[in-house]
Amino acid sequence: METTLVLIKPGGVQRNLIGEITRRIEARSLKVVGLKLINAPRATVEEHYAEHRERPFFNGVVEYLTSGPIVAMTVQGDNAVKAIRAMMGATNPLDATPGTVRGDLALSIEDNLTHSSSDPDAAARELQLWFPEGTI
Ligand code: PPS
Repeated sequence: METTLVLIKPGGVQRNLIGEITRRIEARSLKVVGLKLINAPRATVEEHYAEHRERPFFNGVVEYLTSGPIVAMTVQGDNAVKAIRAMMGATNPLDATPGTVRGDLALSIEDNLTHSSSDPDAAARELQLWFPEGTI
């Protein structure tokens, strides 16, 4: 059993895709065990993307993630990390396979709709960051 983090970015919330993305996760028999709609604190977003601090898109991605409400979700299930990453599709939606969230619903890397943890260690770190209060 694994637990992973999913963020629905501001574009996904603005486009009313909270339900569609959550529906796909639940339809896969993964369990949502933590869920909140928040205005992400800048410090949290900077920490979340800290490993990319030197990359040219860092400021843009921080601006974007703090530009409007996001959904933070804790998802649990067998092989949840890999299953969720596969469901979301390639980071760049232009490379994402049809049938994935990004392959069906997104077009640009600047607005790729979701973030999901890349591996179990990242998931543990990110869940501590976004759900310091824990989940049910
Ligand atoms: S991955 O899948 O985590 O290995 O992808 P990576 O290429 O390392 O990118 C890490 C995160 O940086 C975001 N990213 C960008 N954002 C905006 N513009 C550009 N050009 C860009 N390139 C990479 C990418 O979306 C990853 O964040 P998340 O939130 O996981 O999608």
